Formats: sequence, structure tokens, C-alpha cells
Amino acid sequence: MASYYPDELINEVISANNLVDVVSGYVKLKKSGNRYMGLCPFHSEKTPSFHVSADKQLYHCFGCNEGGSVVQFIMKTENLDFVEAIKYLASRVGISLPEGNEKSSDGEYFQKKQKILEMYVDTARFYHGCLIGDIGKTALSYLAQRQIDAQTITRFGIGYSPDSYDALFTHLKEKGYSDKLIMESGLVRKSEKTGKPYDFFRDRVMIPIFDIRGNVIAFGGRTMVKSDGRKYMNSSDSIIFNKSKTLYALNFAKKNCSERIIMVEGYMDVITLHKYGFTNAVAGLGTAFTKDHANLLARYTKEVVLCYDSDEAGRKAVMSAIEILTTTQLKVKVMTIPDAKDADEYLKLKGAVKFRKLLDNAQSHILYKISRLKEQYNMDNTEEKITLVTNMAKIFSEVTNSIEREAYVKEASIETGISEDVIYAEIKKAGYSAPSAKIKPTYTQRVKSISEGDFRTEGTLLSLMCSDIAIWRRVRNKITADFFECPVLKEIVNNIFSFSPEDKPPDLIMIISKSDNEAVSRLSSLITNQQTVDDGIKAAEEMIEKLSKAKKARQISDIANSGDPRALAQMIKNLNK
Ligand code: CTP
Ligand code: MN
Repeated sequence: MASYYPDELINEVISANNLVDVVSGYVKLKKSGNRYMGLCPFHSEKTPSFHVSADKQLYHCFGCNEGGSVVQFIMKTENLDFVEAIKYLASRVGISLPEGNEKSSDGEYFQKKQKILEMYVDTARFYHGCLIGDIGKTALSYLAQRQIDAQTITRFGIGYSPDSYDALFTHLKEKGYSDKLIMESGLVRKSEKTGKPYDFFRDRVMIPIFDIRGNVIAFGGRTMVKSDGRKYMNSSDSIIFNKSKTLYALNFAKKNCSERIIMVEGYMDVITLHKYGFTNAVAGLGTAFTKDHANLLARYTKEVVLCYDSDEAGRKAVMSAIEILTTTQLKVKVMTIPDAKDADEYLKLKGAVKFRKLLDNAQSHILYKISRLKEQYNMDNTEEKITLVTNMAKIFSEVTNSIEREAYVKEASIETGISEDVIYAEIKKAGYSAPSAKIKPTYTQRVKSISEGDFRTEGTLLSLMCSDIAIWRRVRNKITADFFECPVLKEIVNNIFSFSPEDKPPDLIMIISKSDNEAVSRLSSLITNQQTVDDGIKAAEEMIEKLSKAKKARQISDIANSGDPRALAQMIKNLNK
């Protein structure tokens, strides 16, 4: 992993930050033997599978396979890149880092971030105070008319930005924030004409946007005036806010979404859904659905139900969200809302029971795509019917489950009068064999197959040689990276050989900082899950023997498969020696 700090400095920062202390700030840990366990902060679970090894300074979740050192932990929880995480950890323990980054050094950047976060909380409190105070009467009655009750207002921290050019600015100044910091927050801006500061949000109902831990990181402001051209004004991206990586209300939903998340379009949909008991609803922030959103969802749930507005824009947005979501392992379903423009309106019109029914009847994304396709063609016209069935076959070719595929094909055949065989032939043409190649198994599945399958010996040997200096000394000269068939393990071993002196056990933390994600997770899993072995050296030697044989067998089969006559002849010669 690239970084411009010297390795020694990175090491110093890492060793000054005890993993157990750092993790304890986020997760309630319980000691169990020489390790600690708790509920994983990266996925939602009821029984702890998150392990922290105090002596190895590594963590691993055996539920979702996130793992690594304190650096990876901070990168993931604080949403930082490697260098930012090092800075964060340095400032946490008062180590100063050399200058040379545009974002300044010495944790100054993080102190600023922290200050701005505080300013956003103060601002949310200010707006909320305005809503429930004298000047908030109109806004309160607007909310009442939208059936948003007091409890919901409190839960979501809803507020009101006064109809004034500098009410917030003055308030923040009084709180002691500097002009410079206030301007940087985006909450107050400078007029291009007069150069005077003015509040960005004025006379709007204010909806605070939270990050996953509940910090206020942005606002959405809704006008109460019908004729106002801009229904919503939103905070721009900032040092604390990245729209395309944030989902509104995930901080609430994360407690109740391990099975399913309802993804809606608007703030108001979310608020109403939560009010009606659907506390697993989240929304984007008025921007297109991104791959980052999909990955975020995949961290918290198994299934996403898209419940977008019923207009054409909403239907289009569903199609593009499907394309992105189906690149993950998430199950994707679509809910269509009849007789109302969105979930918010539907719930108020028909209530929770009916909504629940719609939710339970949500279509698979495949059927949704098929139904959209059908709308475009006239089945009575033969030519159009041919195009329709051809396109349907393309969609069926994405279905990996053969039972599911057969059910769709049967139905399509009845509906169109085209025989199943012919539809299957089209599916084949559309590349039906592709899915297995196209859809990569999830990381968890791959790791599972690695640890349960042929690579068990490789993994055990690796964890042994990393944990015991005597074993390391014995093993070091007897193996090379190509003893390892598993590519992930091979990468780790390569890094071990490049970074570990003979007289010291491999420096796992350093190796982790040099490895890619997959290797980090693999290594943390091996190390935190390590079993004690009676005679480690003997066990290691037996494993080396086994791996050496396997390596030879691999070489032989490679040569045999290559069909290279010279290599084959050489091999036979060697075998006969
Ligand atoms: N949006 C926006 N700016 C707009 C309109 C919409 O940022 N001018 C975003 C907001 O995040 C909004 C979402 O897109 O929540 C969905 O838009 P829309 O369906 O128009 O809003 P509703 O949630 O239905 O708003 P309301 O119920 O208040 O009319
Ligand atoms: Mn809407």
C-alpha cells in the first residue's frame, strides 16, 4: 500500500495505538482467554463473531470476514484512506507526522473535521430550537399538516432555519467558532456581490443527515412554499460529507436491517416509513445510486427492496439501481406503489398493513425487468413479439438458479406461445454459461472455500510460521512462496519473505500494511483463529513435506498440460533419475 511515511514511523504510530483500546471506543468487548470478542461493527449480528487478539494486535470478524490491524479498523469505521487513518491514529496519541500533505499534518486536519462536526451538531440544535420556538410556528404547522408528529420530529432532529440572512452565522459566532471555520462548513457562505456572509439555508424545514454513527454531517432543507422553485436545498459535499457514500437514516436502520433494507427516494419517505414501524428504510440523498451505496448496503443486509417513486423518473432510477446492486451478492427486489406517488403518500393513504403486503409481494429484480420489458412491446405484432422474447431470454440468462430460471421460462413460454426449447436456445446465445464467470463469488464464499478446502494445510502452516520464532527459523529456508497454491496465501508469503528478517518472527502488522484487502482479511482470520499445536516444529515440517509433494504434482501437471514436447521429455528424464 502506497504511503509517503517511512515504515518506521507507521510502525510507531501503530504500536502506540493499542487495538483493544481503539476498538473499545466502538465495540463493547468481552475478554475470553487471550482474546476479546464483541458484536461486529461492520455487519449487523446478534451473537458476537468479532474477535480481537490483544497479543497479535489483529482483529477479525468470522461473520463478515473484515479483518486487519488498527489501521484497517480506523479506515473502515471512520471511512478514511490509509494515510488519513495513520494521521488519525497519530493525532490520537500525540505523535507528530512530517509535513507534506495538502491537507496539512499533525492531526490538524482531523481536529478541523472534529470542530466542524461539533458545529453541525450546534447547528442542528439551533435549527431544532427555532422550530419549537416562537419563529417556528409556520414550520411546525407545515410538519403537522404532513402528519409528522412530535416524537418523529425529535427522533430525526428536524428543525427550522429562520428567514434571516445571518441568524445562524451570528449564533455560531456567539458559540465561538471562527469566521474561517464557519465559511468552511458550508453552512454560511459569502455573497459574491457584497462579500458579506449569509446563511445558506433560510426559511426551510431542516432535516439533519447523519453518518452511520449518528454524527450530523449535512442538511437537507425543504421549502414550505409551493411556488418556490427549489423544493429541497442540500449541503454540498464537504470535509465531513460525501453524498455518494451516504445513505440517509442508515444510522437508525442499521439496528434492524440484517434481513432486509427498504431503499426509498426521499427523506420524507424514510421519515414516514420509520414512523409506521418500517425502521429498516433508508434513502439516497437526491443523487444517483452508486456502487459505494451498494457496497454499504451489502455490509448491513442480505436483501434490498427498491421502493422508488411511481413516476417515470423513479422507474428509471430503479433500473439503474438494479444494475449496480446486482454486481454485489445482495438479493434485489422491487416494490411498485399503486395509487400513490411514493411510499410517504401511500402509507398515509392506505396504512401500514397494506404497505406490508406490498413489501412482502415485492418482485425479484428479474421479474421486474421482464414486466418493464413487456410494457414496451405489443404481443399481437409478431415482429415485436420476437424482439420481446429475445430480450426476455437475455434477462433470463442472468439467472443463476436453474429452478428459478426454469420457472420463468415456463411462464414466458405459456404467455408468448414460443416453445421452451427455443427460449432456452436464445438464453444460451445470450451467454447463459456466463453467469458463473460473470458473477464472482463473494469474498466470504471464497475465503470459506479456501479454509475448508485444499488450502487448509497452507493456511495452518502460514499461521504457525508467523506465530513462533522457532518455527519461523526452521521453516524459512525450507520453503518458497510457490509452495502455496492459494494465490492469496502466496501473496502473503511473498510479503513475509520481503519484509521479515531471519532472526525475528514476521511482522504481521507491517505485512498487513503491504497487502491488499483480501490478503489482510485472510491473514487476520488465520491469526485470530489460531489453534495451539503440541509440537509446532514437527507439525510444520510435516506440512512442508505435504506441500512440497503437492507443488511437484502441480509442476508435473502443468507440464503435461502444456503439451511442450521438450519440457515433457525433460520431465520424464527427471522422473527416471
Ligand atoms: N431532491 C432534491 N432536490 C430537489 C428535489 C428532490 O435534493 N429539488 C431529493 C431529496 O433528497 C428528496 C428526493 O430527492 O428527498 C426525492 O425527491 P421527491 O420525490 O421530489 O421528494 P419527496 O421526498 O417526495 O418530497 P416531498 O414529500 O417533501 O415532496
Ligand atoms: Mn417522492
